[in-house]
Amino acid sequence: LSLKDTITRSELVDMEGVPLTKPMGITWDQVQKFKARPDDVYIATYAKAGTTWTQEIVDMIQQNGDTEKCRRETTYKRHPFLEWFVAEPPSERYSGVELANAMPSPRTIKIHLPVQLVPPSIWEQNCKIIYVARNAKDNMVSYYHFHRMNKAMPEPGTWEEFVEKFMSGQVLWGSWYDHVKGWWKAKDKHRILYLFYEDMKENPKREIQKIAKFLEKDLSQEVLNKIVHNTSFEVMKENPMTNYTKDFQGIMDHSISPFMRKGVVADWKNHFTVAQNEKFDEDYKRKMSDTSLVFRMEL
Ligand code: A3P
Repeated sequence: LSLKDTITRSELVDMEGVPLTKPMGITWDQVQKFKARPDDVYIATYAKAGTTWTQEIVDMIQQNGDTEKCRRETTYKRHPFLEWFVAEPPSERYSGVELANAMPSPRTIKIHLPVQLVPPSIWEQNCKIIYVARNAKDNMVSYYHFHRMNKAMPEPGTWEEFVEKFMSGQVLWGSWYDHVKGWWKAKDKHRILYLFYEDMKENPKREIQKIAKFLEKDLSQEVLNKIVHNTSFEVMKENPMTNYTKDFQGIMDHSISPFMRKGVVADWKNHFTVAQNEKFDEDYKRKMSDTSLVFRMEL
């Protein structure tokens, strides 16, 4: 029996209307009381929207393109994942809050929380937040494969079943629709740079420059080009510090589906049936009728 077989998939519990894992419920109080610092930078996303990519871009900007410095630790340990908590097995213990508290400033912190669950201190300290959104269909496809390969996630069921769960928001971190709309609204009141995965794919250099400007960092053309290269899907897929092969060993099974899976726009076309697509679109229209937010489902 390997570790993989003994890990039980997490059940979800309702935290203020949002499904979270049971272990996360244990540290939820600590998350809400978390003390932000004014020079913290937050990377906020719905899961599978391009978090790891954005984390690498931000770190490379902060390290002024020094790849050695960026390889000091894995993505998972370089940037505390604030609300994430795992107790079992002991070898995989992780507390985002503890990791963040122990980290010297300036810190860069990852969150997947919907905007209404953000710890109040982050707003009080007026921290910079980079939000990345990805179109619903690709985000869902990516999330489905992630559920399959990651034993810390709930059982995804069949593709058909997962689509239903995603549409009804009965997945970890809740409704994609509420998440992207909530953060879109919040950007008018707070220091939030709202980015799109599709824009990053279309023109990574342009989007990296936006991030650098937001972080008030001047980059030479040489450094900028170096960042574009080193944060490409192909390079990050081979980089053990970014491809999640060093963390979650025995929990993530990259032979089922690699963490660095495809990294493209419009892979949903290889998953949706015509009927599924029509149903999804109709429901999407309804759920997104109260926002000015527009996504590109293909480039
Ligand atoms: P796919 O499953 O569609 O390939 P997150 O980091 O939020 O968990 O998101 C993971 C998704 O981002 C995966 O999508 C992954 O392949 C993609 N990704 C990771 N690094 C990337 C990069 N450098 N360029 C493009 N996509 C990337």
